[in-house]
Amino acid sequence: MKKLLAISVAVMGFGTTAAVAETVGFSQIGSESGWRAAETTITRQQAEKRGIDLRFSDAQQRQENQIAALRSFVAQGVDAILLAPVVSTGWDNILMEARDAEIPVVLLDRRIDAPDDLYMTAVGADSVHEGEVAGGWLVDEVGDRQCNVVELQGTTGSSVAIERKQGFENAIADHPNISIIRSQTGDFTRSGGKEVMESFLQAENGGRNICALFSHNDDMAVGAIQAIKEAGLNPGEDILTVSIDGVPDYFRAMANGDANATVELTPNMAGPAFDALQAWWQDGTLPPKFIQTPSTLYTQADDPEGEYQRRKDLGY
Ligand code: AHR
Repeated sequence: MKKLLAISVAVMGFGTTAAVAETVGFSQIGSESGWRAAETTITRQQAEKRGIDLRFSDAQQRQENQIAALRSFVAQGVDAILLAPVVSTGWDNILMEARDAEIPVVLLDRRIDAPDDLYMTAVGADSVHEGEVAGGWLVDEVGDRQCNVVELQGTTGSSVAIERKQGFENAIADHPNISIIRSQTGDFTRSGGKEVMESFLQAENGGRNICALFSHNDDMAVGAIQAIKEAGLNPGEDILTVSIDGVPDYFRAMANGDANATVELTPNMAGPAFDALQAWWQDGTLPPKFIQTPSTLYTQADDPEGEYQRRKDLGY
């Protein structure tokens, strides 16, 4: 409709194609982590840069809030919807409503269990691969040494928690000297990571039975590092840490020697998502079903202080 309006304005001789701002609804999960906050900031920046009218809704971690937001976006007649789905199941009905209204939906950073004709494309990392990169780092780091790992899982039922766990297990499968001795969700939050790590430390001889922490995100790892310190151990030495995201505070911890490695997840999911939508609006080009973002490993050898600053400059 808006495209038609722009074309008729141009045909009527009102100059070049009059830009009619596209309206995009964004259903964000919440602000559970530094990474999530950065994704929100960068999505707003990307929308502004492109003249897109972004309607933002914070679901505070609840799927029912996301479903209500999507229903409201459909009622408002937005031109597209960005959805960062908190969990992987339960989306079919609301996505059918969006499809019936001919509103394209782009998934950001997490995947869903639903037929793929219910969304236009998904932008994100291969989360199994992220777990494999993290596990691969640990395998190389410990060699033949016996290593008991504790795992902090992300939000239960989220695609990223399921897949990162799977990837890490794949990486250590042929290394019987490495085993996961405890695994529990910290819900991707710093406070959750600290609390669960305290219980791991208590259960494992004050932490002396633990060789490494695998955390599904950096915020939980930062909370866990605090718990390790409070238990009188040296994180990064007595207990190795490997994590996922690449947020500034974790780079700081690496620079201080308190953390060892992280796998970066870009918070700029909106850039590729808007590129795909704009190509479609312009000439009907359909994007591939999955637009994969890179998963780069960073260690203490990779100028963590410089990486900290670089992310701060990016709007984290
Ligand atoms: O879906 C991406 C994950 O969600 C990030 O790794 C985590 O920090 C966030 O909460």
